[in-house]
Amino acid sequence: MNDFPKNTQQPNDAPIGIFDSGVGGISVLKAIHAMLPNEHLIYVADAAYAPYGDKVPGDILVRSKFIVDYLLHRKVKAIVIACNTASAIAAKELRQAVDVPIIAIEPAIKPAIATSGNKVIGVLATKNTIASAAFSRLCEKYANGAKLIVQSCPGLVEQIEAGQFSSTTTKALLREYLAPIMAAKADTLVLGCTHYPFLIKQIQEIIGTDVEIIEPSHAVARELANRLNLASALPHCSASSEIQFLSTGKLDLANHVFASLWGQPLRVEPLAST
Ligand code: DGL
Repeated sequence: MNDFPKNTQQPNDAPIGIFDSGVGGISVLKAIHAMLPNEHLIYVADAAYAPYGDKVPGDILVRSKFIVDYLLHRKVKAIVIACNTASAIAAKELRQAVDVPIIAIEPAIKPAIATSGNKVIGVLATKNTIASAAFSRLCEKYANGAKLIVQSCPGLVEQIEAGQFSSTTTKALLREYLAPIMAAKADTLVLGCTHYPFLIKQIQEIIGTDVEIIEPSHAVARELANRLNLASALPHCSASSEIQFLSTGKLDLANHVFASLWGQPLRVEPLAST
């Protein structure tokens, strides 16, 4: 384990670090910024190593530690793992090693089961999330007789990273991955990867608008707000927040894709990947 810097007692106006393998976590960043508009946010995309979904789990742990180490050196007061895959593989170990709050994300199986009428639920996630012990535990704990149709989505994250939201390839992949879920007549669909909310429109074009789509970015933002509130760590003043975007990947395309997902022009700064 890295020798992480100790980060106790950061001031209330210290930034919050948020990371993902790439642009997917911007879906979580948006929810956090909407709920906590006065917080300074540092977003790290580990795009040089994206996608995480089919990497060896040990490599994802190493990458997660690298980014957390960077964020701690930036003196963040909390870290959000805006990535289901890294959360499933690394959250437990990171929490044991680090003394700032670490908020993780998981596929929203529990709320989906509460919402579903026919208790047939589709779940889209990465191969690594689905193969993780954390995901098995989640299903065992909450499935409670519901039928879960769990589908990995190889290739989809690469399309989103490339800004290909509506390409023929993206739509063909979606049709293939949604087919078993539609055949089982699921009435609820869990988006278990933070990249997928950026395809909600394209998903609805295939499955229709009657299927309830559930993604947990707002729940993660709420959890973060609660944790900061309990720790009396919310910012005191209402100064406007700064949001910094960093990527370990190539920046030429990143600026364009980040800006289109964030909805405003921005400049992505480089972060050395080792
Ligand atoms: N957005 C991430 C997740 O929520 C990672 C996807 C990937 O890199 O494969 O799982």
